[in-house]
Parts: sequence; structure tokens; C-alpha cells
Amino acid sequence: MNKSRTVGSKWVKTKVLLQNKELRKFVPETRIYNQSNLFQMLNKYKMVYVKPINGSFGQGVIRVKKNHKYTFQSGKTARSFETFQGLFTALNKAKLKKSYLVQQGIHLLTYQKRIFDTRIMVQKTPHKKWEATGYIGRVAHPRKIVTNFHNSGKPLPLEVLLGSYINGQKKKEYIHRLRNLGYRIAKHYHKSYPGFKEIGVDIGIDKTLKPWVLEVNTAPDPFIFNQLKDKKMFFKVLRYARENGRFIRVKRK
Ligand SMILES: Nc1ncnc2c1ncn2[C@@H]1O[C@H](COP(=O)(O)OP(=O)(O)O)[C@@H](O)[C@H]1O
Ligand SMILES: [Mg+2]
Repeated sequence: MNKSRTVGSKWVKTKVLLQNKELRKFVPETRIYNQSNLFQMLNKYKMVYVKPINGSFGQGVIRVKKNHKYTFQSGKTARSFETFQGLFTALNKAKLKKSYLVQQGIHLLTYQKRIFDTRIMVQKTPHKKWEATGYIGRVAHPRKIVTNFHNSGKPLPLEVLLGSYINGQKKKEYIHRLRNLGYRIAKHYHKSYPGFKEIGVDIGIDKTLKPWVLEVNTAPDPFIFNQLKDKKMFFKVLRYARENGRFIRVKRK
């Protein structure tokens, strides 16, 4: 049992998810970043994300690919290498001076050729129940590999972004399933961390429409929902965040 209200480490948070048999299948394979894990993961998946264990806003996140060459991209610049050794040396210089993870890369859906993912907000209600109060899509800058709002990503209604893949009742049901996944994750986290009152789940969707949990945020930003024209969701998220004491000590993510 742990009473803390936030957890920073993406490694710890991934291990918590993996404890649950039902949730495990939504977690991309994740390992500690080192030379042999990177080598193996690149051979297995051809595309991986390398990201700081303690990070936010997409800072220091790098996408690495293995095709006929090795390529990595952070920010807007991509670089290519003939050999794995060349890649690894340059990557170590380009990454932040922090511990990293290497994660199976998900081929995210796109909107106007830009990748997008989703953020599901799950909060304790005034009746002390969990509820998936917010959901939103985040489109990456055309030349970036992260979707974060604080990294030039653009928040848009999820209905709009999914519109070129599914529509009507199917789309409604799909969004319901995503929210339910967020809800199940919150319930599961609560067992290990009873102090949690809110989580924000970053869910990537691949080309088969399978959802993948990219990250669980334990101090999720309520204000992203203020980016939607329709303020209904934002007002509820904000009201619950206040009731959950989120603005007493401001630490956002
Ligand atoms: N395994 C992955 N596959 C595809 N995209 C990813 C993956 N991991 C991260 N991303 C992209 O990078 C963004 C930032 O990564 P995330 O793990 O959420 O870290 P941060 O704490 O910086 O938000 C995600 O929102 C997503 O757009
Ligand atoms: Mg994130």
C-alpha cells in the first residue's frame, strides 16, 4: 500500500499495469534503455520509442526506426546511420542525461497526415466513485513524433479525429470502450495507490484500431479540455479536480 498521490516513474507505472492480466494486453512491450535492449527491440518491432523514465510534455522523447538504415527523430530533425553502433553512439549524445525506457512503437492513426493519440481523464467523483470524465484527441505537429499539447500538439474532439476511420454508432461505442479502459486502469491503480484521485491515460490507437496504453499520468492537466469549443466536459473535469484538491499544491502534467 502506498499513500502517495503521484508517481513520476514511467517504469514503476508500467509495472503496475503489467500486474493486471486484463490490462497487460494493452501495454506495449517496455524495457529499460540500454544497448542490448535497444538492439533486440529494434529487431523485433522495427520502430520503437525511447523516452525518459521521468519526463513530461514529450520532452526528450525519441522515435527510432530500423529499415534499410537506422533512423532516429527527436523534435523536428531526423538522422540516419548505416550501423547500429553509429546510431547508438549518436542517440546517447542526443538523449537527455537521464535514465530512459525503450518501448514498442505503435503506428498511430493519423489526421491530415499527422499522428494523433487520445487522453482519457478519470477522476473520483464527489460520490467517491471513479468516472471517465474527459476524453480528447491530440494531433502532433506535422513534423513531430509526439502529440503533447505542450509540444506544439493540437487538441481536437476525438469524434473528429476518428471520423475518417469509424462513424455513427460504431464510433460512439468505440469511444465508450476507450473510456471504459481508462476506468479499469483507474480502479486497478487505486489498489496499489489508494491516494490517487485522478489519472490521465495516454492511449495510442494502431491501424487495426487496437488501443495501446502509452502512459498513465498521475497529475493530469485538466486545462487541456478547455481547448474544446464545447465547455461541458471542461467544466465537469475542473469541478471534480477542485473537489479532489488539485489546486492546493499545483503540480501539473
Ligand atoms: N510507444 C509509443 N508508440 C507511439 N507513440 C508513442 C509511444 N510512446 C510515446 N509516444 C508519443 O509520444 C508522446 C509522449 O510520450 P509519453 O510516454 O506520453 O511521455 P510524456 O510524459 O512526455 O507525455 C505520446 O503522447 C505519443 O504521442
Ligand atoms: Mg504523455
